[in-house]
Amino acid sequence: MKHFKKILISAGPTREKIDPVRFITNRSSGKMGYALAEAASSIADETVLVSGPVNLDVPANVRCINVESAAEMARAMLDEADNADLIIMCAAVADYRPKFVHENKMKKSDGDLTLVLERTEDILKSLGAAKKTNQILAGFAAETNDILQNAKSKLERKNLDFIIANDVSSSSSGGFGKDQNAVTIIDRSGRMEVFELCSKKELAEQIIEYIVSF
Ligand code: CTP
Repeated sequence: MKHFKKILISAGPTREKIDPVRFITNRSSGKMGYALAEAASSIADETVLVSGPVNLDVPANVRCINVESAAEMARAMLDEADNADLIIMCAAVADYRPKFVHENKMKKSDGDLTLVLERTEDILKSLGAAKKTNQILAGFAAETNDILQNAKSKLERKNLDFIIANDVSSSSSGGFGKDQNAVTIIDRSGRMEVFELCSKKELAEQIIEYIVSF
């Protein structure tokens, strides 16, 4: 079996500040990323988890770096990526953040409020652009329609080796916040492998095994 020196995984949501007491986030529980880190720790010398705010215990033998915003996650991932031989970007990174962060708590007024949002960095794309030979890079694609087509175009756009496509259109396929998940993994050559609905822990073991055996 292939041996890995360092496996780097991101997990959970990000939080993008509006003011000192408010932020924009999403429903990611972090369960899939934490399960991947646990599975990875049995085959790597070192496993690093870069985690947004979640309510989960860090698996044994995993070094966890806690972050909040997409910008903090980008910094941690790019710092740690240098000597990683497998990187899996599982976090649900916010695509936008408030353009202005208010220093004091915002006061309400009678009318509507418009928040201006700006793009965050696409961390996976940056990792793909900086990818070294012998580095394996995998991302997730949460899709509601044209799942395989959209996932394949993400794989190409972000220079990935694997994309793990997730149908989030129906609750029966698991996903966000659930304990179960079902995915299809597509590789650079276009080969597809379907992983049926099962617990995120079992699925994580199957995903790691599949990538490692490649
Ligand atoms: N991702 C990232 N940085 C972002 C947004 C997403 O690294 N700012 C990563 C996610 O961790 C995931 C992959 O990109 O591994 C795909 O995320 P997804 O939200 O499905 O796709 P997007 O690239 O955001 O594309 P779109 O919103 O058009 O579906």
